[in-house]
Amino acid sequence: MPIPFIDLKVQYKALQPQVQERINRVLEHGQYIMGPEVKELEDKLQAYTGAKHCITVASGTEALLISLMALGIQPGDEIITTPFTFVATTEVIVLLGAKPVFVDIEPDTCNIDVSKIEAKITSKTKAIIPVSLYGQVADMDEINAIAEKHNLPVIEDAAQSFGAEYKGNKSCNLSTIGCTSFFPSKPLGCYGDGGAIFTSDESIAIACREIRVHGQSQRYVHTRVGVGGRMDTIQCAVVLAKLERFDWEVKQRQLVGQRYSELLAAADIGLFTLRSDRTSVYAQYSVLVSDRDAKQKCLSKAGIPTAVHYPVPLNEQPAYKHLCCPDCTPIAQQIAKLVMSLPMSPDLSSDDQDKIVGALLA
Ligand SMILES: Cc1ncc(COP(=O)(O)O)c(C=O)c1O
Repeated sequence: MPIPFIDLKVQYKALQPQVQERINRVLEHGQYIMGPEVKELEDKLQAYTGAKHCITVASGTEALLISLMALGIQPGDEIITTPFTFVATTEVIVLLGAKPVFVDIEPDTCNIDVSKIEAKITSKTKAIIPVSLYGQVADMDEINAIAEKHNLPVIEDAAQSFGAEYKGNKSCNLSTIGCTSFFPSKPLGCYGDGGAIFTSDESIAIACREIRVHGQSQRYVHTRVGVGGRMDTIQCAVVLAKLERFDWEVKQRQLVGQRYSELLAAADIGLFTLRSDRTSVYAQYSVLVSDRDAKQKCLSKAGIPTAVHYPVPLNEQPAYKHLCCPDCTPIAQQIAKLVMSLPMSPDLSSDDQDKIVGALLA
């Protein structure tokens, strides 16, 4: 039997009664858009993260876009970010006519290298977007300190890190704004698209709420330009059901991640570092291998799927390379050639994990 890359079926089986009951409730009341589950989820996620406001939105991409719109980002503005991430982080900047300014990453975490941020700040810089990659939070204290010095807001792209902690505080509540994704394969996923924005700034929260519904402050009063960016009630109901198992899943992810690190510690495989002042929710468990193509083929033959997060830094992608020197982030370039993600889910059994490690080291 092939091992799934992420086992969502086992998770569904474990939560089937709760999920079905939650979905049925929505079908009964029929408020598919902005039904009571939307507010219920926002209240629960607010309490979970400690942020004063949570605004659910249509996806993680929409969360980033709405956040930038709420900050008033204009064409020509510069946004500092990492090229080693999913395309959405950069896409939203370019969609608003702003310019992504790419800063290289740390080789041992793949998160933005804070020591290289300040040199990229200009009079046009309007925000910094670090990404908490693979489930581990970026160096938020240092990033916030630089941002404060230059009076800049920080948006944590926490699409992969919901549930992770940094110095005892939850990801999504570590900077001006935190954005997450409920894409099905994310640590907290729904059964479609979904996402959320977190902030403790009242005026940003009001702007995000209005932009989410076409910039509407009251019915048919459009005070600002917005988007159709709501999260469906049914998807909120799914996340509410999944929250019941989430603390257990976070612990399991950490156990599975730590076990991979222990099993691979002595091997000739590059491992990433988990900093001692934070936790990871291991959205991915990624390693560095020099013969990636051969390893992927060999694992695939043994029924073990792998993935590459990410094969090409965004400043080398055809749509974006004219916006920044493609060669100015050499670490991202080098890691992109070596990185490979192994199956990871809270329900991955020790037996399956042993098989994966055995095949990887064969
Ligand atoms: C780092 C990062 N940012 C943004 C996103 C976009 O989230 P979504 O797929 O929900 O739009 C993702 C999702 O893959 C992601 O991994």
